[in-house]
Amino acid sequence: MSRNILLLGAPGAGKGTQSKKLAEEYDLEHVTTGDALRANKDMETEYGTPRSFMEAGELVPDPVVNEIVKVALEEADGYVLDGYPRNLDQAEYLDEITDLDAVIYLDVSEEELVDRLTGRRVCDECGANYHVEFQPPEEEGVCDECGGELIQREDDTEETVRERLQVFYDNTEPVIEHFREQGDLIEIDGEATPDEVFNRITDAIEN
Ligand code: AP5
Ligand code: MG
Ligand code: ZN
Repeated sequence: MSRNILLLGAPGAGKGTQSKKLAEEYDLEHVTTGDALRANKDMETEYGTPRSFMEAGELVPDPVVNEIVKVALEEADGYVLDGYPRNLDQAEYLDEITDLDAVIYLDVSEEELVDRLTGRRVCDECGANYHVEFQPPEEEGVCDECGGELIQREDDTEETVRERLQVFYDNTEPVIEHFREQGDLIEIDGEATPDEVFNRITDAIEN
């Protein structure tokens, strides 16, 4: 059975962590605007490059991300979408281009979000995610999976994290409210170990 799953949540809620597991479990494409934009940070668009928006913690203009999502979803036979939609216009656009089978919201408190983001480290080579305290690699600064160097994302400094959270409360919470009103939203308490959160999600999807 092919599945189209949307994963919503604040910055640091665990969207990337859980999307990766879901994509493996159900053999789905992991479509994530954040990774797509990071891979094309210096791409010239009529609005400028994604880099300037991302490093300030602001949203990249809708036409740029809409196009990325459209192409990726057309190519996917079942997907987990992570990082989109982040405002109501994007939600409307998504509604026009695809049908969703499950909409999941990972709920995590602000204090926990800040701890997770400021302690996150990512592999420079393969993109694997770690946390200095909650999910440390076997050897400090080195990726368990590929031996690459672990770095801090440029937008994971405390100041930019606060800005990203504000952008989330202003722009993306209305999207969550929109799905809640439609009655389609599956709300998951995201404050547990990654494995426990994963079990909660798969239970909800399958029941
Ligand atoms: P994006 O890359 O999407 O970032 P984000 O939404 O801010 O979310 P994160 O990737 O930071 O968090 P996550 O929920 O994936 O958490 P993770 O699993 O890594 O977007 C970045 C920027 O791109 C935006 O600011 C914007 O500029 C632009 N952009 C992207 N999409 C856009 C769009 N649609 N429109 C416009 N602009 C867009 O986990 C975080 C940390 O916590 C990790 O260290 C992990 O190890 C740890 N962790 C995970 N789960 C747990 C757990 N259960 N317990 C303890 N620790 C955990
Ligand atoms: Mg992510
Ligand atoms: Zn790696």
